[in-house]
Amino acid sequence: MKQFDVTPVSARLAEGPVNLLQFARSAGRNMLEVIPVETMRQTYVRGPLNIHYICDPEMITELLVGQGRSFPKAKFTKDIIGSAVGNGLILSEGDKWRQQRRRYSPLFAARNLPVLARHFAKTGIEVAESLAENEGPVDVAQVAPASTLTNISRVIFSGNEEVSAEQIRVGLIAYFNYISDLSLFDLMGLPKWLPRKKWLRSKAPVTTMRDLARTVIEQRRAEDRAEPRDFLDLMIEALKTDFEDLETTVDNLLTFVVAGHETSANALAWGYYLLALNPDMQNRIRAEILSVSQDNPIEFEHLEKMPLLRAHIKETLRLYPSAAFFARDAADSVEIKGIQIEKGDALFYPVYSLHRNDQLWEAPNQYRPERFMGAPIPRGQYIPFGDGPRICIGAQYAETEIMVLMASVLRRVNFSFTDTEMPEPVLTFTMRTSGPLVLNAEAV
Ligand code: HEM
Repeated sequence: MKQFDVTPVSARLAEGPVNLLQFARSAGRNMLEVIPVETMRQTYVRGPLNIHYICDPEMITELLVGQGRSFPKAKFTKDIIGSAVGNGLILSEGDKWRQQRRRYSPLFAARNLPVLARHFAKTGIEVAESLAENEGPVDVAQVAPASTLTNISRVIFSGNEEVSAEQIRVGLIAYFNYISDLSLFDLMGLPKWLPRKKWLRSKAPVTTMRDLARTVIEQRRAEDRAEPRDFLDLMIEALKTDFEDLETTVDNLLTFVVAGHETSANALAWGYYLLALNPDMQNRIRAEILSVSQDNPIEFEHLEKMPLLRAHIKETLRLYPSAAFFARDAADSVEIKGIQIEKGDALFYPVYSLHRNDQLWEAPNQYRPERFMGAPIPRGQYIPFGDGPRICIGAQYAETEIMVLMASVLRRVNFSFTDTEMPEPVLTFTMRTSGPLVLNAEAV
């Protein structure tokens, strides 16, 4: 079958040992360039200093779900994204984390997804119409974040009298620009004389966004709606029985905004790219969507009748995992499968390499959504959302958002390649495209 002959773009990983200066230079630009290429061929690589690169599914499961499940997030992650998301769910530890996880888990329960899906479907229809009416080359790396930004505005920031939609839009864009420049490796034990540009930058985008979030929360609280109509209502509802101080609520609101915007947007953009690369699959997925819903808004209930679209999104997140890398600090010494990990060691999970490791996957660099339609993938081998107690709380939210947007768009629009060169995957804050991802959009 022709579609399997085309290989999707891949990243260049570090071919040889990386010295500290190269490390600092590359890490700021593209963190994938400092991940050793051996992690694509071996399931465990001992890095320099005290770093362990782990791609072994059993070790991963033991560390994220078993003995190492309460190892804290790596300190450097906190140093960097802490300035943007404070001490909300993504970065807190111990009892503070447990309380927040318990408080917010019901928000993401399946019963709330149909309400959220209705908001996503509105955005989906708008995006589809705009693409169908303005046929021709379009940068999907711009369209995708614009759609998830609209979704955030709809489910969190809509209907405020004191803050205008435009203020929110401008505030969010400045805030995302601030964050997207962050590099998680930036603070990792690098020599003091290396410049750290973001330390010198004004934190105004963060302060402004926090002020806006605070106003929106207080205003919505005062409204005291009887029935939750969007995500912010659900947040406020949860806090009625289990209160937290306003600054922590602001931290969490921004945590959900940060964690959910660019991650989903990247999956959408790469997902459109893979379909342009595989026109047969694109047609099959479009036929599946049309057999479920011709032109009414896509609803949450429709999604379970779209197994091929779901498999496509899973395969997209295998090849281009938005969180292509995450890390922990070992809080204790442990021995797993004969590997000795000492207290204080750095545990790196290079999800990009794990998902393309040739010891684990057949034809790892090929696009084959069908691999997700057969026997389940062994635990620890596919972790786009992490695993264990700190698994992504928004995984179903994200899957719903991406499926609703993509289904709404694909039934109206066909994507194909133009002559423009395709970008590569780069990893800064999340794994995104190195430049514009221009596809030709045609109404169908
Ligand atoms: C394709 C989209 C997404 C991907 C690939 C993704 C990936 C991840 C990963 C890998 C983690 C675990 C990191 C670690 O263990 O260090 C995580 C955690 C988290 N994600 Fe997501 N995420 C996505 C969408 C979302 C959305 C839509 C939300 C919220 C609206 C969200 C909120 C969070 C939060 C709050 C955490 C921290 C959970 C905790 O520590 O208890 N994510 N995400």
